[in-house]
Amino acid sequence: MVAALDEAGRQGRDAAGVEDLFVAIAADRESAGSYVLEQCGVEASRILGRDTNGNGHAGPPSPRARILDESSLRVLRLADAEATRLKHEHVGTEHVIAALSIASDLEIGRKLNDTGLTPKSAEDAIQRWSAEGMPRRRDGIGWMPIRPKWLARILRPVRKVLRFGPLLWSLYARKSLGNPGFVKNPYSLYQWLREREPVRRDPLAPVWILTRYDDVMEMLKNPKFLKDPFGPQRLPKLVREQLEVGLEDRRVEAEVVSMLFLDPPRHTQVRSVFARAFTPASLGQLRPRIEKVTRDCLDKVAGNGGMDLIADLAYPLPVIVIAEMLGFPAEDYPRIKVWSDVLAASLSLNATGEQQAAASLVWGEMHEYFDQVVLKMNRGKDGPLLARILESEDEPGGLCREEVFTNSVLLLSAGHETTTNLIGNGILALLRNRDQWELLCREPELIESAVEELLRYDSPVQWTSRLPAEPTEIGGKTIPAGEIILGAVGAANRDPEKFPDPDRLDIRRKENRHLAFGIGIHYCLGAALARMEAQIAIGELARRFPKMRMSSKRLRWMKGLTFRGVRELPVKLR
Ligand code: HEM
Repeated sequence: MVAALDEAGRQGRDAAGVEDLFVAIAADRESAGSYVLEQCGVEASRILGRDTNGNGHAGPPSPRARILDESSLRVLRLADAEATRLKHEHVGTEHVIAALSIASDLEIGRKLNDTGLTPKSAEDAIQRWSAEGMPRRRDGIGWMPIRPKWLARILRPVRKVLRFGPLLWSLYARKSLGNPGFVKNPYSLYQWLREREPVRRDPLAPVWILTRYDDVMEMLKNPKFLKDPFGPQRLPKLVREQLEVGLEDRRVEAEVVSMLFLDPPRHTQVRSVFARAFTPASLGQLRPRIEKVTRDCLDKVAGNGGMDLIADLAYPLPVIVIAEMLGFPAEDYPRIKVWSDVLAASLSLNATGEQQAAASLVWGEMHEYFDQVVLKMNRGKDGPLLARILESEDEPGGLCREEVFTNSVLLLSAGHETTTNLIGNGILALLRNRDQWELLCREPELIESAVEELLRYDSPVQWTSRLPAEPTEIGGKTIPAGEIILGAVGAANRDPEKFPDPDRLDIRRKENRHLAFGIGIHYCLGAALARMEAQIAIGELARRFPKMRMSSKRLRWMKGLTFRGVRELPVKLR
């Protein structure tokens, strides 16, 4: 759509029409739409009576058209209906071409029909395109979803890979992220990939997977790999309104402002405001409170002889700490916990449509709740984190209310699911490697290096992603602009080139420069807090319950690919 607006701009028009949509698709040789045209024997230059090479993927966007005209809006709606009729989850360029062939009252539609591109032949070509394993990518740099979905650009191709799990299964001898065994044990697949194809382009989607430590490090540190390289190409506000993008799904806005999805310079400004609350001094003040919450959680279950380590400690501790830190009332924590679980689930690489829809609802509810809390909150420098952040609204370059809200939600969800899993995965690893648990019980001063090793050994965040704004080399391969790179942090942390004997849990391990918290400008803001919580919780468990053991060997792993953790961890305490 952006390419169509650019094309209209180049032709000196203020509104993009169907012809501009057609040119944008025909000129993108990689698009599914141009595949359909080719299959139906359509030569774009004949239809237009001129060459289409001027299309703007590379060209300078001389003033971009501001709106889509009525006919192109109608064609986009038709394309949406075509995608629905064909039971396709997303609207792509192929549906736009099919829609043009249906709109035979338009001049371009009539010409397409005359050259042999009819609704029937377009549909046949689309089916062939699917059957051939989608030989071209479905969306291009300038593509925007007609049906807004948060993070659609990142998640769409990944979901495609997962949907094609069975195909990958046979193609890659069961070496697929879609393999159901993957969440239970991703490490054998990581090893297989690292040894055979450490920088691997997926055969079906424009997604690259990195499994070597040095490559993941490069992805995180090299400023050419961005979170949001197409920010400047986003659709103009008027077009977003025309398409109702962002009006029916508030999370679209979230993508724009949450620091996790921003690049400099705005990222630097937003992060610096929140970083004020994460100084060693302010975190040090939290220590007694974290110790008290941990003791309270354990006192409740100490007499029972057993507990679910997740529900009784790993779950409540981080949510209480972060909600209290932000300044939300204690009685609301159960509600906040449910909300942030829903949001965290939608952040996963393979989140389902239902999870996305649930997150959309929760987003609205949280917004209302947040507005009420802010209204009642006592402002001032000595107030809770939220009150201090709100002060920045009046500073030059400070955050607007929407940014404060979105980043507070990020802190809530990023700040507890991950720490829950650090404590859960950590205790699981220690109990499965009994000698290490006993070592920690005997030598409690090892707690700091133990937590670092647990972060490395079974990282709570397994993946993160970036996109190059220009073709960029990594690990000897060139990644084209706009193709998604998934850095497997969990794989990097088991790279034998970096960590000798990487599959062994060794709580005395030296030189443990793991990537569990990332590195570079997006390095986890809450790393010190998470470390402190885990050290206190695991240290207290080792002190009070050295005989602790698992009471069931059956584990249910969370389904998402991004966050790794078990749902329950029943243990006997004595
Ligand atoms: C064991 C617990 C945690 C793990 C493993 C973890 C992991 C990560 C990772 C890998 C990133 C970088 C993502 C990227 O580069 O794309 C990140 C970023 C972030 N984390 Fe954490 N995190 C944890 C706990 C926390 C906590 C407790 C908080 C807050 C209270 C927090 C807040 C954030 C924020 C705000 C960012 C974004 C920073 C930025 O974009 O500049 N995290 N985290």
